[in-house]
Amino acid sequence: MTATQQSPTAAGSGANASESFKASAASLDIADTPPERVAAIVTAVLQGVHGAIKDHDVSYPEFQAAKAWLMRVGDGGEWPLFMDVFVEHAVEEQVAQSQQGTKGSILGPYYLPGQARLSSSCRLPRRDDEQGTPLVLAGQVRDVAGTPLAGAEVDLWQADADGYYSGFAPHVPDGNLRGVVVTNAEGRFEIDTIQPAPYQIPHDGPTGQLIEAAGWHPWRPAHLHIQVRADGHRPITTQLYFAGGEWLDSDVAEAVKPELVIDPQDDGTGTRRSTYDFELEPQPEA
Ligand code: DHB
Ligand code: FE
Repeated sequence: MTATQQSPTAAGSGANASESFKASAASLDIADTPPERVAAIVTAVLQGVHGAIKDHDVSYPEFQAAKAWLMRVGDGGEWPLFMDVFVEHAVEEQVAQSQQGTKGSILGPYYLPGQARLSSSCRLPRRDDEQGTPLVLAGQVRDVAGTPLAGAEVDLWQADADGYYSGFAPHVPDGNLRGVVVTNAEGRFEIDTIQPAPYQIPHDGPTGQLIEAAGWHPWRPAHLHIQVRADGHRPITTQLYFAGGEWLDSDVAEAVKPELVIDPQDDGTGTRRSTYDFELEPQPEA
């Protein structure tokens, strides 16, 4: 990172993630879940908390410290970060049990809809002086029967070579390293980008305090976020990771799956290339 660059604070990234999440979840309400189901789930969550208090003989000062910490997570706008790091993977694994085709992974807090639409063979929007090893990801989108899907959308977003996401870091221009790539008549795409860096959970806020207090580490292995959509098919939200990358075996968000690890090879010009094909299942009947 250069000295002139402003590094996003946890509060900055956290508050941005809160605003972005509120916009995407505006229509969701717990009142839309049947009361018996709310009661059953919340009872189970509370039983887990009560069990931890009993098993670990939790004291009043520890209880009050936990309450103060929970308030700071809310004040700092870090609930989306916290939930996506520590909880989302379990939801994704549950949903994946009824999903065929390409393996999914967590969405995370940094998806932004409405990015530039790009042709099947394209370069992701980047700064003139974008740092990082050139990376080309090529592949095909098919249905689970193997039929290529023309006009499918490969929506890609990623961190830069310093681990920052556009839209959530003040020094990175909007739309940087994000784009919706539309597959060609054979369902193919070829995306020119750069190798992302591993991502560190913002560590100057309450989520970071917890990670440090527990003696954990705040890292996710380098990854590309990808959502693949095609008319009449169930969209897939996933991530691709890099063979041999740091933190691959100890992702703080526990979102790595072996099927999602790619191994790009240098093509002799300093560009690393990999292929990855995506398979979508039919949209389930509503
Ligand atoms: C978080 C960030 C990510 O880039 C990601 O993929 C998952 C979670 C987070 O900060 O919560
Ligand atoms: Fe990410």
